[in-house]
Amino acid sequence: MNAPTMQGLNLNAPSHVKNARLIAWVADMAALCKPDNIYWCDGSKEEYDRLCQQLVDAGTFTKLNPAKRPGSFLACSDPTDVARVEDRTYICSAAKEDAGPTNNWMAPAEMRATLQPLFDGCMKGRTMYVVPFSMGPLGSPIAHVGIELSDSPYVAVNMKIMTRMGKAVYDVLGVDGDFVPCVHTVGAPLAAGQADVKWPCNKTKYIVHYPETREIWSYGSGYGGNALLGKKCFALRIASTMGRDQGWLAEHMLILGVSNPEGQKYHVAAAFPSACGKTNFSMLVPPDAFDGWKVTTIGDDIAWIKPQSDGSLRAINPEAGYFGVAPGTNTLTNPNCMASLDKDVIFTNVALTDDGDVWWEGMEKDTGGLPAHLIDWQGNDWTPEIAKQTGAKAAHPNARFTVAATNNPALDPAWDDPKGVKIDAFIFGGRRSTTVPLVTEARNWTEGVYMAATMGSETTAAAAGQQGVVRRDPFAMLPFMGYNMSDYFQHWLSLGEKLAASGATLPRIYTTNWFRKDEAGKFVWPGYGENMRVLKWMIDRLEGKATGEETMFGVAPAYAEINWTGLDFSAAQFNTVTSIDKAAWAEELKLHTTHFEQLAYHLPQALLDTKAAIEKRLAA
Ligand code: GTP
Ligand code: SPV
Ligand code: MN
Repeated sequence: MNAPTMQGLNLNAPSHVKNARLIAWVADMAALCKPDNIYWCDGSKEEYDRLCQQLVDAGTFTKLNPAKRPGSFLACSDPTDVARVEDRTYICSAAKEDAGPTNNWMAPAEMRATLQPLFDGCMKGRTMYVVPFSMGPLGSPIAHVGIELSDSPYVAVNMKIMTRMGKAVYDVLGVDGDFVPCVHTVGAPLAAGQADVKWPCNKTKYIVHYPETREIWSYGSGYGGNALLGKKCFALRIASTMGRDQGWLAEHMLILGVSNPEGQKYHVAAAFPSACGKTNFSMLVPPDAFDGWKVTTIGDDIAWIKPQSDGSLRAINPEAGYFGVAPGTNTLTNPNCMASLDKDVIFTNVALTDDGDVWWEGMEKDTGGLPAHLIDWQGNDWTPEIAKQTGAKAAHPNARFTVAATNNPALDPAWDDPKGVKIDAFIFGGRRSTTVPLVTEARNWTEGVYMAATMGSETTAAAAGQQGVVRRDPFAMLPFMGYNMSDYFQHWLSLGEKLAASGATLPRIYTTNWFRKDEAGKFVWPGYGENMRVLKWMIDRLEGKATGEETMFGVAPAYAEINWTGLDFSAAQFNTVTSIDKAAWAEELKLHTTHFEQLAYHLPQALLDTKAAIEKRLAA
């Protein structure tokens, strides 16, 4: 053991940890946070089981019935700590312009001065877990290492599932390897003898990124993207700035493989905002009419995409697990997902059944009825009667499951390939009750970037705050951009130019909207597995088999170009989800104008030109 002692606290660094910067940083953080102990995670199964048992003993976890849901646990959070907190998330670049108008910003020195007293002694009475993780296959040239220090064992076990976590990371790191330091505290120190609560957190929250020094500091929340720092904080916010500097992309995208009956395979990366269908689409089961077609999952939330010397783009999923939305998931909407959840799952904020299993809204479609009694996510009795009277949800709308990718029966054989997969098409899709058609294809890269840059979507329970309001969510990256949004648009445009210059065929760019509603407020498009019909049209376009029709907003499928076998969907219904209402689009373009005004600093001229062209077509 090389065991420097800080103020009486033994660092306990194992002998295989040889990285001097890491040891010094842990010592510094320990001196600041003042935990009672330091525990270096090794990522073993034995360790995972031990920490889960510790969480059961502490009351954070309820062990589920092993006959129903082997190896699985339920955690219910503090009711004030249930989602990402966008208003508490900061990009602390040296210059305010580099964070841009879509991010909260504070000067780094000012933020450090703010956080210093909050972190001072924040881990008293707790253990500091040292969590080593790799985003991407261990040792892959496109992977990057992070170390999270956290006082939450819940975070440690979730990170084990969500990332390649464990001892082997130290071999990659070596003596002088680079890593992104991530420090996380629930912000709830314990006085001597003070009893803990089952979900410690603090009403003050800060999710802070220093892009220049590539540091992450998170205070006060134990939930999801606020606390599992490899995910949004590192793999999107910090990685997007790395991508800007190094010429690649970190995106809020699923990656899927789609094979046709002839065995030809394509790869599609799709950006939908939070809780808008990425997990679902990445695990899509084609309808019966699509005999011989197969969809396989590479990733469900994040893609790291790197240009190759031949002008192609290759993508990896930096994660190793899924932190997915539970409500709405059932064997009809997503059978592969349900199969993934059979065993070895951590559920957060779903309901507990009387026989020790889990339940959430949407499961009644599988069982043909509501359960007679549950314990809801807040620990209260729930019955269909109570739900009817009070509207109480059994599961929180942002309830999630944490599960290893290897649980997914549709996992792509190349999901772990360090080379990644070649991207043939991008999709950008928002949640819009009106206006935006089911699917269109951009005529060229710039128009595709325009579509992505102006994408609007109704807000969901994935973030704290008002739900169902349309906001611009460019590239589905609004909450996850680590730098100036307009510079990011330019980064995409420049990348396209660079790839085109190398003579490569650029991936096609599509927009989708599964969410148009009728007058009664019901979704018109059946969605889920039926989205295969749209995906197939995209493939037909790639293969030159579908002509499509020119619209004001890209090329759209004719009714006859979609395979309707096995689905009763009339031309009139199709028109309801594809029609372009000129008046609505005039209003929509006003929103684009306002959006671009807000992003005026460094906004690429090409996007303004594209807007002018759309306006001209609209007026014609
Ligand atoms: P994050 O993990 O938050 O980034 O979200 P995600 O994009 O992976 O979301 P997910 O796939 O978990 O989607 C969650 C919500 O979208 C649920 O309410 C689903 O029922 C709904 N959803 C997904 N696909 C479709 C679809 O094709 N049609 C409709 N109407 N709803 C869908
Ligand atoms: C999202 O909100 O887009 C998520 C969940 O994927 S979280 O990791 O909590 O941000
Ligand atoms: Mn997400």
